Amino acid sequence: PPHAQVLVASNRGPVAYSAAPDGTLQAKRGGGGLVSGLSAIGPDTDAVWVCAALGDDDREAARQAAQRAAGRTGKLDPEDTGGQSVRMLDIPEETFRDAYNGVANSVLWFVHHLLYQTPVEPSFDEDFTRQWTSYERYNAAFADALAEEAGEGAVVLVQDYHLTLVPALLRARRPDLRIGHFSHTPWAPPDYYALLPDETAAQVLRGILGADRAGFLTWRWAEAFADCCARVLGAEVTSREGGHELTVSYEGRTTRVGVHGLGADADFLRERAHRDDVAERMAQLRTQVGTGPDGAPRRTVVRVDRTELSKNIVRGLRAYRRFLADHPEWHERVVHVAFAYPSRQDLEVYRDYTDEVSRVADGINAEFGRGGWTPVVLHVKDDFARSLAAYRLADVALVNPIRDGMNLVAKEVPVVSDDGCALVLSREAGAFAELGEDALVVNPYDVTATAEALHEALTMERDERAERTKRLAAAATALPPERWFLDQLNALR
Ligand code: G6P
Repeated sequence: PPHAQVLVASNRGPVAYSAAPDGTLQAKRGGGGLVSGLSAIGPDTDAVWVCAALGDDDREAARQAAQRAAGRTGKLDPEDTGGQSVRMLDIPEETFRDAYNGVANSVLWFVHHLLYQTPVEPSFDEDFTRQWTSYERYNAAFADALAEEAGEGAVVLVQDYHLTLVPALLRARRPDLRIGHFSHTPWAPPDYYALLPDETAAQVLRGILGADRAGFLTWRWAEAFADCCARVLGAEVTSREGGHELTVSYEGRTTRVGVHGLGADADFLRERAHRDDVAERMAQLRTQVGTGPDGAPRRTVVRVDRTELSKNIVRGLRAYRRFLADHPEWHERVVHVAFAYPSRQDLEVYRDYTDEVSRVADGINAEFGRGGWTPVVLHVKDDFARSLAAYRLADVALVNPIRDGMNLVAKEVPVVSDDGCALVLSREAGAFAELGEDALVVNPYDVTATAEALHEALTMERDERAERTKRLAAAATALPPERWFLDQLNALR
């Protein structure tokens, strides 16, 4: 049926709460592909979003919602969610912490992004055994809520590595549902995936194979998933529709594996990037960047990331340092504007990494800076309007992740750029599959090559830069979030 109920499940929901000084809860709504996607399904379709309470204030909001509903399943106040029906799960704090920080962000994220330093880590000991039990409970809480919320024949879209066990758990309870799972991350190749304890490795795959369809951002990740199913479970993998869909058959069921490359939301970005707050921040950035010895505005190399190990910010800074050392003619004529917004700060490695980013940036400024020229301007306070301002001004965008599911910054910059921007892009980002032809492509581990790519980007002719930016923007917007979401639904219906 075209209007079957739609449920979305994700760890992070569309709204987060924080308590004001007087104790009242303030809601802050987030953005992203799922928010835009859900808005596209129209008012005749009943939609419910199930997410986790991420902190104490969220938990309080979830409790208040449950109280208001007096026994029925509680939804957040629609005023907080823009009218959306959102059920936030009040999962016990310790269970949540073990599942989110312990398993999802420290193990599954690390495996898929190849982040382990294998001579010393990982080790799966009794701590992991406890954390894994929490991850199972946390997934079971989602499956329970979804089973309760879903009407007959509903379509359920389960998101990401936090919720790998949900599809199988939900199918066992509700065989009438059509279930999709979508991974926003890369998928590890089989040899690396095999770092996981054997039973964990198998359970994650069996969990996702409980879905009718498993979605990925590029073929590379989809194929890696299928390879892991073959290797770990002995599942049978076949390629269909001229290679445009894989199927994985295991224990009498078949899961289709498909690809949906989420694109940038051009209409939203262009409108948002031309509001007054962005113009204000452009003026501030221009002042900060300043003018070179010839009186011309300095050129800018821009990066915008969560301070995330996989984003490779430290090597990016080292490459910029190498570039300055090799090309003194650029001194005082260029500024690296780096926005590194704090992320997952409960984890020590992320705190250490955040410190290292600052240290390396300070080191470059101490080594090369001189009166009136700060070679690296680092901002760590999250500010979306300022990010857009930097996108518009950027001469060069540096996107050099070790590995990345897609990377939307690489797609957003060309869409809002005022005068064209050269893109230095890691071949290990999912976006490489769509943007590789018009970007300057780098091996993210190769600091020397990245330094050379920065030089090439800064010296690219204006016309060529503008031409490339136009083609990059076209490729970046080929699958806007609404289409990305509806395509997944249609593939399940
Ligand atoms: C990645 C993941 C998302 C996650 C986001 C932010 O994009 O694929 O699932 O929400 O990072 O991370 P956080 O841990 O802050 O939710």
